[in-house]
Amino acid sequence: MQSHKLLITGGAGFIGSHVVRLFLTKYPNYSIYNLDALTYAGNLENLKDVEHMPNYTFIKGDIKDAAFIQELFQKEQFDGVIHLAAESHVDRSIANPMEFVLTNVIGTVVLLNAARAIWNNNFDGKRFYHVSTDEVYGSLGEEGFFTEETAYDPRSPYSASKASSDHFVRAYHHTFYLPVVLSNCSNNYGSHQFPEKLIPLCIHNIKHNKALTIYGKGDNVRDWLWVNDHARAIDVIYHSGKIGETYNIGGFNEWKNIDLVKTLCKLMDEKLNRQPGTSEQLITYVKDRAGHDMRYAIDATKIKRELGWEPSLQFEEGLSKTIDWYLNNDEWLNHVTGGTYKNYYVSQYEKR
Ligand code: NAD
Ligand code: DAU
Repeated sequence: MQSHKLLITGGAGFIGSHVVRLFLTKYPNYSIYNLDALTYAGNLENLKDVEHMPNYTFIKGDIKDAAFIQELFQKEQFDGVIHLAAESHVDRSIANPMEFVLTNVIGTVVLLNAARAIWNNNFDGKRFYHVSTDEVYGSLGEEGFFTEETAYDPRSPYSASKASSDHFVRAYHHTFYLPVVLSNCSNNYGSHQFPEKLIPLCIHNIKHNKALTIYGKGDNVRDWLWVNDHARAIDVIYHSGKIGETYNIGGFNEWKNIDLVKTLCKLMDEKLNRQPGTSEQLITYVKDRAGHDMRYAIDATKIKRELGWEPSLQFEEGLSKTIDWYLNNDEWLNHVTGGTYKNYYVSQYEKR
């Protein structure tokens, strides 16, 4: 592809930073603009290794700010958008649903309006890619998988806000012909994930001998995917996905939370030279998450069949690499777990 101006929203977050890095290095002829409000979850340290690249521009800004976004799109005339910016943590959505409506729903519509205005029905080579989650499909029992045809049944304020944003994206395609593509992905893990999510939280707490808080009985199931594999899928879908279509992305890798945490404990004991069984003693069962979805599992056959994508890494290898990254990046962890993180931690866990 010739020179291409691509806006990535939420590029300072966990998944966004992996997407920005992949696109900057793989497509040196693209101009990559990273738009991020730098909320508690956004961190420019995530991109330290690539921020000097000549094809990279960072813009601090809020997707809820319609005037600012309109002006930015008019000025830069982007060819494409990959939209990841969102409030992403289910527990925070239970504590404060409105923030999720404003960022995830209103923010997405603000971006759709701005893209529509600059492309003005000239859609050749243009694309609006909305990154979403498998949580929009609700909760599975012991059997079955989410396919692209599964009816939406969101059950947390987070998933309801993501479902709503997905509907708006599809509505702009049907009503205004906006060239959109969507994906719904399962749980990601890997480096640079904020330690409010299960895996980095447990790694951090094992290291510091703090309680590993298991919600309910720990028998909820999640389907885990290495974040770099999600970034690869986003690359393939952005370039080759069919306009108007949705692709499910997943790892075919289901784990009960308690089994996953015990595996983490075992790996951490080995890496920290602790006696086998030491870290498991930190496991503490706490009050369940309200409305806790029991099981997510993605059927990712469409993306494999149509676009040739599949996960590259076995879970144990990915977990081991992930633990090594957190153990070798103390400075990053210390920065993100200082300040307001402490208040969040106390309200979420110590008062539970
Ligand atoms: P994250 O919370 O780590 O990062 C979100 C980023 O968005 C942060 O950099 C934050 O500063 C930015 N942001 C938040 N509000 C903003 C606003 N109003 N304006 C501009 N920027 C704003 O999230 P993540 O885990 O990297 O998830 C990224 C996207 O992928 C989200 O849309 C999420 O719903 C989706 N997703 C996440 C997962 C997962 O397992 N983490 C799985 C499937 C889909
Ligand atoms: O499925 C995709 C989704 O995965 C993304 O859309 C979300 O942005 C992302 O946060 C993630 O949502 P989950 O709620 O599944 O992730 P989390 O890491 O918060 O929790 C994973 C599981 O572990 C879930 O069943 C809740 C449980 N849990 C979590 C925490 C933080 C615990 O038992 N204890 C904990 O302390």
